[in-house]
Amino acid sequence: MNMQLLHDILTCYGPSGSEGRVAGVIARALEGHADSVTTDVMGNLIAVKKGKAGGKRIMFSAHMDHIALAVIDADKNGFLRVCNVGGIYAGEMPYNHVAFGNGVCGVIGADEDVKGDLTVSDLYIDIGAASREEALSMVALGDMCVVMPRVTKLGEHRLSAPAMDDRIACYVLLEAMLALGETDNEIAAVFSVQEEVGLRGATTAAYTINPDMGIAIDVTGTGDVPKAKTKLAVELGKGAAVKIMDRSLICTPAVVERMEKLAREKSIPVQREVLPYGGTDAGAIQKTRGGVPSGAISIPCRYIHSGAETVDLRDVKACIDLTKAFMEHSA
Ligand code: CO
Ligand code: ZN
Repeated sequence: MNMQLLHDILTCYGPSGSEGRVAGVIARALEGHADSVTTDVMGNLIAVKKGKAGGKRIMFSAHMDHIALAVIDADKNGFLRVCNVGGIYAGEMPYNHVAFGNGVCGVIGADEDVKGDLTVSDLYIDIGAASREEALSMVALGDMCVVMPRVTKLGEHRLSAPAMDDRIACYVLLEAMLALGETDNEIAAVFSVQEEVGLRGATTAAYTINPDMGIAIDVTGTGDVPKAKTKLAVELGKGAAVKIMDRSLICTPAVVERMEKLAREKSIPVQREVLPYGGTDAGAIQKTRGGVPSGAISIPCRYIHSGAETVDLRDVKACIDLTKAFMEHSA
């Protein structure tokens, strides 16, 4: 695995709607490895490798955006008030450091008189300003911050980072593209925007690409932590997860079958994923035009949408292998 490239992808600033820096890193890595690399109106980065006549067109999608907080106001003492951009769990946010696109940093705090669960409107961001004027000279209304990008190694095989969702999948898709040789299939690798606010980038990309089959690559939850609230069979270190369903789609059975068959043939460790919450780009692809057979390859991840999203690099390897096998195999 190219740890430098992975680090660069994980540490880019890229909230929903401002994914350009992530796209830049990926586009540079793709140079010479695709027949075309383009950016569409929404900001999706689309790399295409042509196939042979009669081959199928398969779209893969991994989202570049990271959940964020957007500035809605500043109070007279310089504390920023924010709203969520994507699925923020307010209770997990306090005392995280955050970074804005212009380099301004802050600490998240929460009103101390809140009874019960915190909501995003109870949060503030301390950027070191002493007045409203000073705060708004440092950041503008609408500017977005993300939990401070960093990467922490845990033990031999595990990696923790705030933007694992879904940059780890961007890395998986990128590595599969870099390793891909000649295939019958035409492969459209989409590094999508604005997934976290409603699969928006994948929606327009899938319409343009008009694929014969669609695969999302994204993180999925695990049930392997002490007293896990949701009973999930997925575990870290047990391989790539083959999605059966989540709240955005019920995967097309033929796609699931093809994935599991390929995993058996190539001895790639896989586990089934049945996620009772959340969604992913495949949900948008499946509903494109007259409908597109769709599924997803998921990277098991603990603590999703926190500042410490954690994956196992052996699962990441399995996801790269399964993605590449799916690209190569004639449909
Ligand atoms: Co997410
Ligand atoms: Zn995601």
